[in-house]
Amino acid sequence: RKITVLMGGLSAERRVSLSSGAGISAALREEGFDVRVIDAGPDLGAIVADLTDHRPDVVFNALHGRFGEDGSIQGVLDWMNIPYTHSGVRASALAMDKAAARTTLRAAGLPVAEGRVIDIADFPAADPLPAPYVIKPLNEGSSVGVEIVRPGSNRRAAIAAAWTFGPRALVETFIPGREITVGVLGDRALTATDITPNPSQAHEFYDYDAKYGDDGSHHQLPARIHPDAFARALELAVAAHRAIGCSGASRTDFRYDDTSCGDGPDRRPGCLVVLEVNTQPGMTPTSLLPEQAAHCGISYGALCRWMVEHATC
Ligand code: DAL
Ligand code: MG
Repeated sequence: RKITVLMGGLSAERRVSLSSGAGISAALREEGFDVRVIDAGPDLGAIVADLTDHRPDVVFNALHGRFGEDGSIQGVLDWMNIPYTHSGVRASALAMDKAAARTTLRAAGLPVAEGRVIDIADFPAADPLPAPYVIKPLNEGSSVGVEIVRPGSNRRAAIAAAWTFGPRALVETFIPGREITVGVLGDRALTATDITPNPSQAHEFYDYDAKYGDDGSHHQLPARIHPDAFARALELAVAAHRAIGCSGASRTDFRYDDTSCGDGPDRRPGCLVVLEVNTQPGMTPTSLLPEQAAHCGISYGALCRWMVEHATC
C-alpha cells in the first residue's frame, strides 16, 4: 500500500513534526509500506500536486500545530477524497481551539480548570485571575508560549509585549501537583504516565525543553498515583476523545493535584483536571504515546500500522 507521510509544516512545532515524521516513515518502510514523504512547506499547490501525481492509499498526517492539527490539511484531504490518519476537520479544529475545547469538555461533564479568554492588550493592567495562573496561546502545542504567573509577579507587561500568538490568550488557574497523560487508541486508553521535569534542569513545568531536550523529563509509567485516580484518568481520556469527536489516536493531558491528600494508608485520590486533548500526539523518540504503546506491548511500527489501518476520510 502507498502511504504519503506529511511532515514539517508551518507551525511553531515544525521541528517536532520533522522528528515525528522521520520516525514514522522509517517504521512504515520496515512494516513493508511503499512510503513517500512530503516536507510540507508554504506552497499548498505543490503538496496537492504531489498527492495528485502519486495518489497514496493513505496520507499519514505527522504534522503538529496550526495547519496540520487544526482541520486545515484535513479539509484539503477530504476535498481530494484521500483517507488520512487521526482526526477529521471538526475534531481537529475543536481540539486546537483551546477555548472551544474547554467549553465542549465542560458541557460533557469533564473537569477543566477555572479559566477564561482575555484580550492580551488588557493583560498588563491587572491579573485576570488570582495568581498563580497559567497564560497560554489559544492554538499552539508543545507548551509553546505557555507561562506560569506567580503571585507578586511583575511580568505581565513583558509577557504582553513579547506575545506573538494573536490578540487573545487563555488564562487558567494553575493546578499544583503534577502532569499526567493518557494515550487513547480508538475506544481504548493505553495507560497513564506521570511526568516530572528533570529537577536538575531549570524547568518550571513540562515545557518545550523538558519535552524534547536531552534528559528533559522523567516518565513514570504506569503512573504511581492513587488507583482510583489512575482508573479515572483512563476513563476521562476516553470520554474526552469521544466528546471532541476524535478518530484514531489521541492523547489527553491532565494536571493531577494530590498535594493535600496525605501519605498514609487513608490517602485520598487527588483531583484531576483536563488540560487538553491532542489530536496529533507526538511520535518523536521522547514522545509519550509511543512509550505508552510499547508498555502495552504495541511496538512503534505496530502503532504506526494501527494508525494507517484506522485512517478515514
Ligand atoms: N503537541 C505535541 C506534538 C504533542 O501533543 O505530543
Ligand atoms: Mg498539545
